[in-house]
Amino acid sequence: MKTFEKVIILDFGGGYTQLIARRVRELQVYCEIMPYNISFDDLLRAKPSALIFSGGTASIYTDNAPRCDSRLYTLNIPVLGICYGMQLMTLDLGGTVIRADIEECGNTALSVLEGKEGIFTGLDKEFYARISCGDRVAKAPPGFKILLQSKNIMVGIGDDSRKFYGLQLHPEVFCTRQGDIVLKNFLEKICHFSGNWTMGNFVKNSIAEIKEKAGADGSAVCGLSGGIDSSVAAMLAHRALGERLTCIFVDNGLLRKGEKEYVLTTFRERFKMEIVAVDAADEFLKLLRGVTDPEQKRKIIGNHFIRVFEREAEKLGAIDFLVQGTLYPDIIESSTATGDVIKSHHNVGGLPEDMRFSLIEPLKYLFKDEVRRVALELGLPEEIVFRHPFPGPGLAVRVLGEVTREKLAILREADHIVVEEIKKAGLYRDIWQAFAVLPDIFSVGVKGDRRTYAHTIVLRAVASRDGMTADWYPIPYEVLGIISNRLVNEIPEVNRFVYDLTSKPPSTIEWE
Ligand code: XMP
Repeated sequence: MKTFEKVIILDFGGGYTQLIARRVRELQVYCEIMPYNISFDDLLRAKPSALIFSGGTASIYTDNAPRCDSRLYTLNIPVLGICYGMQLMTLDLGGTVIRADIEECGNTALSVLEGKEGIFTGLDKEFYARISCGDRVAKAPPGFKILLQSKNIMVGIGDDSRKFYGLQLHPEVFCTRQGDIVLKNFLEKICHFSGNWTMGNFVKNSIAEIKEKAGADGSAVCGLSGGIDSSVAAMLAHRALGERLTCIFVDNGLLRKGEKEYVLTTFRERFKMEIVAVDAADEFLKLLRGVTDPEQKRKIIGNHFIRVFEREAEKLGAIDFLVQGTLYPDIIESSTATGDVIKSHHNVGGLPEDMRFSLIEPLKYLFKDEVRRVALELGLPEEIVFRHPFPGPGLAVRVLGEVTREKLAILREADHIVVEEIKKAGLYRDIWQAFAVLPDIFSVGVKGDRRTYAHTIVLRAVASRDGMTADWYPIPYEVLGIISNRLVNEIPEVNRFVYDLTSKPPSTIEWE
């Protein structure tokens, strides 16, 4: 198995740690985020080839300010400290850090002092950037030079012999061209990485790992929903295990129009995968009868999914492994989350730990955009690769109030029209999610000569990078007009159409 060059980002509590990780991976270097207080032995086991200390919200001088094991500096590998990480490194290595004056934070003119090839090569000689407020370096540690400077502040320092660098740039700057250059220089010129984290390498590696884990005759089961995560996880496992993998597709009666047929045809006929399709719509709808509370709906669906899945897996006889499409953000968030649960997320990844299978989670170190790239590498159709996310509880969280067959049928049609028109208008790929909601509101209208008292359809369309925050998407009026006409003309039970213009926060993307 190939080993990847690996950067470990130690997370000191900065809000942009994931963003740094994504930038590093975009530069084709594998990286993982670990908590700042990870034990030295665990860190050694992870075999880092370089370290990045993230920013953080604490002042280095507060009690309990996060600190790291000082043996990290003896590993003989490059270290880049960003903001808090720079201050920590300065303090640890014998420099001084003081509180900054308020005047010089925010957008500031910077000059590059470094001449030869190094971490700041290629930057404009002078440029403006947002530098972070708070603490700053007053005296660089012995052996360090000042490489980047504003009028009064050391913004970049470095010790070329030990390959230690510190950067007082606001982490958002890492999205800008100058920030990207610094990161690229660090990986290429300082760490001398070749950039071997490609999706092709990932696929080869992942298949080899699954083979090794499953041994010569281990068998596996996978819940396949047709969503990109479970599809990619299943495809990788199928490449590794062939017929020793069985997928289970549960039709819970809450799927979109044509979804079941599409998923089954694609994976069975095109990829020759073994799939058990379970028609459990009646069971789910019966359990949802009379239920109006969104959280209760989610719980019922999540719990029953597990029951159906276990029942079907049982029928397969002895199975050793469960393949899941868990992604890296799920893992990072569940290990660091402190906030309240806003909505309980059910997905196929929510199966109980006491199931008797061992887990195979081939995507657990990938971000969503990387999963898409792997999917293309595996030859999954674009229809699946670029499909908008669809929640585990399906249409049940888009039918407000009680879920009934009739309401589901109306919503399915409406959703189909919405998505079809958005695709026709060429907007689908630009939008994170677009879908119809049935708010269970009746209003008076007139169709032909007749008074109607019928349903309203809501259109929800948002732009987002990761679903954590989102902006409402400005669909052109002409497209809205076409959708509106089609909804009221083609669906007899609908006489009104409205457009949801709220962002997240304060709204969530789904209505329930
Ligand atoms: P919200 O509604 O919380 O959604 O803004 C953020 C993203 O997560 C999706 N979502 C879910 N996905 N199971 C899932 O697998 C769920 O229960 C669930 N709830 C929301 C939602 O579609 C959006 O992409």
